[in-house]
Amino acid sequence: MKQIQMQKLMKEIQECKKCFLWKTRNIPLIGDGNIDANIMFIGEAPGYYEDLKGKAFVGNAGKIFDQLLEIAKLKRSQIYITNILKCHPPKNKDPTSDSIKHCIKYLFVQLKIVKPKIIVTLGKYATKELFLRVKIPFTKISDIHGSVFKIKSSYGMVKLIAMYHPSSACHNPFLLSILKEDMKKCF
Ligand code: URA
Ligand code: SF4
Repeated sequence: MKQIQMQKLMKEIQECKKCFLWKTRNIPLIGDGNIDANIMFIGEAPGYYEDLKGKAFVGNAGKIFDQLLEIAKLKRSQIYITNILKCHPPKNKDPTSDSIKHCIKYLFVQLKIVKPKIIVTLGKYATKELFLRVKIPFTKISDIHGSVFKIKSSYGMVKLIAMYHPSSACHNPFLLSILKEDMKKCF
């Protein structure tokens, strides 16, 4: 059932031209990992390598992401990963509000299919979209990272956690140590 729903969604995204990013993308990155997972990570948008491979977190930020999973003793096969945007913004530009407005509906379909019990938003874009939608005030990640918020969803209670984006830790050992602490604390 989940498989069929996800395949339908994948087809829709592969054909999507709702924002300008369809013109330059190679492979839309719909999601990666286990659709039966209890934990969903939501990042920003596919980067250069993700766009070439259609896989999540396979570039530099991916190396950090894998270190974080190791701390939580999680395998990629135990989680599902997706992003706010499914297509790579050239030069890793910030997602535009127009792209987010069109693409976010795919994320909400994915949430309904996967039904994760724990949602981890990575970085300000994913955090802003998810937190404001459930009416949790959000201004900056530094205020709320690593805190667990219990929210009611259409399929039951969900834990919502915000963390810094792994790419922000690529050249910042301080943020990397915060990310590691948050992973230790939350899992
Ligand atoms: N950055 C993201 O936000 N997501 C990815 O999948 C890779 C890099
Ligand atoms: Fe469609 Fe999202 Fe890709 Fe834009 S980023 S073209 S809305 S799938």
